[in-house]
Amino acid sequence: MLIRPLNHPVDLPDLIILFDRCVLHDGRPSLSEHKYASLLAEPMCGDGFVAREDGDLIGYVHLLESKRPGTYELEVMVHPVQRGRPEEPLLRAAIERVRDYGGETVVAWVYLAGGEQPLEKLGFSLQRTLHQMRVPLPTPNPAIAGLELRAFTAGDEEAMLYVNNRAFEGHLEAGNWGLEDLRARQAYDWYDPDGIRMLWSGDELVAFCWTKQHPGRLGEIYLIAVDPDLRGRGFGRTAALEGLRHLHLRGSTEGMLYVDGANNRARQLYQGLGFVWHHSDLAFGLQL
Ligand SMILES: CC(C)(COP(=O)(O)OP(=O)(O)OC[C@H]1O[C@@H](n2cnc3c(N)ncnc32)[C@H](O)[C@@H]1OP(=O)(O)O)[C@@H](O)C(=O)NCCC(=O)NCCS
Repeated sequence: MLIRPLNHPVDLPDLIILFDRCVLHDGRPSLSEHKYASLLAEPMCGDGFVAREDGDLIGYVHLLESKRPGTYELEVMVHPVQRGRPEEPLLRAAIERVRDYGGETVVAWVYLAGGEQPLEKLGFSLQRTLHQMRVPLPTPNPAIAGLELRAFTAGDEEAMLYVNNRAFEGHLEAGNWGLEDLRARQAYDWYDPDGIRMLWSGDELVAFCWTKQHPGRLGEIYLIAVDPDLRGRGFGRTAALEGLRHLHLRGSTEGMLYVDGANNRARQLYQGLGFVWHHSDLAFGLQL
């Protein structure tokens, strides 16, 4: 087995085939949307190592610097019939690369059963559990009284980032966004400005709920935030119900979202709306 740094133009066609092969086998992607988009970007963002055997691509690790200084995130994708073999050497190569960068922390996401084994062997420990929750649609309509509801329009970026970055302060994926982070997500093919439901009090943004319509009947609350000065007044509930109303209007019969196991406030909110646990993804961390 050969482990070597990614050669983007050479390896990309095989990586796309491997990605599709894994989706077909597992029923879900091995790389998160954000990581896969960063791999496909021209020029690509981040870094990676491939595992090849007799020329065939059997595994890949993608490495991306997070918005938290010194922290790098990685995800491993391995051909279904080769699982258990290339993970460890790929992880070792990625960890060495983070050391070379002077990084302090590596966070590895696990989406499949058994994915934690090579990580634990290398000293990683479980740090976060991300629960996917689902709810049948429709849910009750939101009570918007006293607020103005409208969809995202050009010019709302600053207000949205202001609320987002205060609401998600210190958060690994959703915190510390710049305009480029917003723009990168707005470039996804599913993006629809109408899907960002915003609640305003005058020209002050109170809360927003960014929805994402998946192919089929699933609709996601992709990002939801309330101005932290206005927490606990029911605006989160209103924003979530508005997002779910919008998703149902567009054809979704099931609502879905991801919530951090430690985010009690959000979990309480979602349980109160009828969301139930569907599955969990795990994040393992290693201090260098
Ligand atoms: C999570 C968040 C959207 C909730 O919005 P909010 O306006 O504070 O919540 P609400 O006032 O609408 O309360 C909704 C429910 O949460 C519960 N809740 C409110 N404050 C709480 C607290 N401190 N701890 C536990 N539960 C709490 C309430 O019981 C309420 O349930 P109810 O409607 O049955 O009374 C908001 O706090 C936020 O933006 N947090 C930071 C970003 C974030 O975590 N987003 C979610 C990612 S999945």
